[in-house]
Amino acid sequence: MGREFVDDFDLWADHYDNTVQGEDRQYQEVFKDYDIILDEVAGHTIGNVLEFGVGTGNLTEKLLRLGHKVYGVEPSKKMREKALEKLPDLPLHDGDFLEFPKPDGPIQSIVSSYAFHHLTDNEKKQGNREI
Ligand SMILES: C[S@@+](CC[C@H](N)C(=O)[O-])C[C@H]1O[C@@H](n2cnc3c(N)ncnc32)[C@H](O)[C@@H]1O
Repeated sequence: MGREFVDDFDLWADHYDNTVQGEDRQYQEVFKDYDIILDEVAGHTIGNVLEFGVGTGNLTEKLLRLGHKVYGVEPSKKMREKALEKLPDLPLHDGDFLEFPKPDGPIQSIVSSYAFHHLTDNEKKQGNREI
């Protein structure tokens, strides 16, 4: 998978949390009920979790609070840095939906929030097969 898209997320990393909190007018509709949606995803998760597109770690934080072990995958270096500021002990790896280091233990749930739509239809099919 090409990584051209990563630059945009590197640039967004520093103010991403402000955006999801509604400070960025153009994204207010996109991130409406963001926190409720992440709670909903976290609430449907069981066991050890593989999370794709961790971003700044907002879903991850909720999963950890619920007692899950999380293995994170995130292609943007800046996003990984932001997530690790909040969650320094998180196993967080460079990778994407199609190519990622395999978790070293059993996984019961695979989650992702606000990330899968960044793939093309073909990549989505490939990603689903890989998962
Ligand atoms: C809008 S943010 C969502 C971050 C976080 N999951 C959340 O709910 O706030 C999208 C994230 O997905 C990552 N991403 C983009 N394309 C990806 C891909 N092909 N595979 C995995 N992650 C990807 C981006 O780097 C970014 O961190």
